[in-house]
Amino acid sequence: MRAGRSDMMKAHTNTMGVEEKTGSGVASRSDRVEAIALNALTRKELFLRACRCEPVPRAPVWIMRQAGRYLPEYREIRKQHAFLEVAKTPELSVEVSLQPWRRLSVDAVIMFSDILIPAEAMGLGLELTDGGPVLPTPVRGAAEVDALRDFDPEVETRFVGETIRLLCRELGPEVPVLGFAAAPWTLACYLVDGRGREGFPATKTMMFNEPKLFRRLLEKIARVTAGYLKAQIAAGVAAVQLFDTWAGELAAREYREFALPATQLLIGEMDIALNESNNYVTPVILYSKATGHLLKEVATSGATVLSVDWRVDLAELRRKIGPEIALQGNIDPCVMLGKEADIVRAVGATLSATGGRGHILNLGHGILPTTPVENAQAFVRAGQEWSAHAKNVEEEEENPGRDNG
Ligand code: CP3
Repeated sequence: MRAGRSDMMKAHTNTMGVEEKTGSGVASRSDRVEAIALNALTRKELFLRACRCEPVPRAPVWIMRQAGRYLPEYREIRKQHAFLEVAKTPELSVEVSLQPWRRLSVDAVIMFSDILIPAEAMGLGLELTDGGPVLPTPVRGAAEVDALRDFDPEVETRFVGETIRLLCRELGPEVPVLGFAAAPWTLACYLVDGRGREGFPATKTMMFNEPKLFRRLLEKIARVTAGYLKAQIAAGVAAVQLFDTWAGELAAREYREFALPATQLLIGEMDIALNESNNYVTPVILYSKATGHLLKEVATSGATVLSVDWRVDLAELRRKIGPEIALQGNIDPCVMLGKEADIVRAVGATLSATGGRGHILNLGHGILPTTPVENAQAFVRAGQEWSAHAKNVEEEEENPGRDNG
């Protein structure tokens, strides 16, 4: 499945390639390299090229949870509006999505929402408390699994599409807007346990004691989520990220048996539809946390980009999975609480591990609410100033025609 996806992307390389920027029909290789060196790419092209492991002048950078509480202007909005009100009011959610763009000049803007929004649309209650999200009527048996609704995203979560359309209009065609959803396992954890709970005991009880039912739940989530993400793509997102925050709770055997097939099903469903609604195959970024023991399996998910945390050595992962799947990450969010010099050093080390090629710079998990804004700015700046140009040109010389499509 992964190979098919990657072939399809290659077939579309030329529509996004540097050739168009040179304006001269078929450009020579040196023209192309020069165009890259001149930073002629838009942020969206840069982002998509990084997703496809094509040469780039530098790695694009954004931050998970970049729209959030570390920003005083976000806290200001939250004084007046509840979290779910912000998420469900396109004007507010657009404003909050744009705050990190204005402050940090990131290379991608993620829409403001939450991975649990579809849970509500599937028919469950959702409350955002100070202790995190709570679903007061969790899914515990067959009747509850079957009652989950396959909702119409343009009706039940119309505000998500509206937010994306407004964001795309506001930012124009050169800035990638990112959509997202939870991966099936991580959403199941919240649907069954009803809240973030150490080890997700209720979810694992269902998995071990009623494996057929649990698989039915995961498949249902996968199909519903595919529809939800397709609506985001139709509304204009350049790429989507799947959050599998709790994948690391699983042993390899259970990951292979339950989480992985549902993730593959979801990403496979995306492949079928994406060509119709877009002129390129929309990249799927798969974030997973604490999955050092699962990466061989995660790499077979079909995802275009693997987003990993700080426990993973990116150079080693690159060797393990080969040159075709891009990587995202992976600085420890706690580094952002320290000194600027250490942030710059961490950024350099992370980018050196991949040579900045096929790499989207990010943290290994969401930015912490106590992060000083100046440190977030230093992180983005350090990433954007670290040039991978020399490395890319070198590789291009060694491996001519690599990105010819
Ligand atoms: O990245 C972004 O800036 C986009 C917005 C975004 C939010 N949540 C906003 C949010 C995204 C991508 C998420 C994903 C999300 N939500 C995940 C996966 C990634 C991760 O961080 O692990 C998970 C597990 C959730 C569920 C969730 N939502 C939790 C556990 C919490 C409470 C704890 C916390 O971090 O605040 C939320 C609430 C939430 N989602 C907030 C924000 C900004 C804080 C709400 C507030 O303003 O008080």
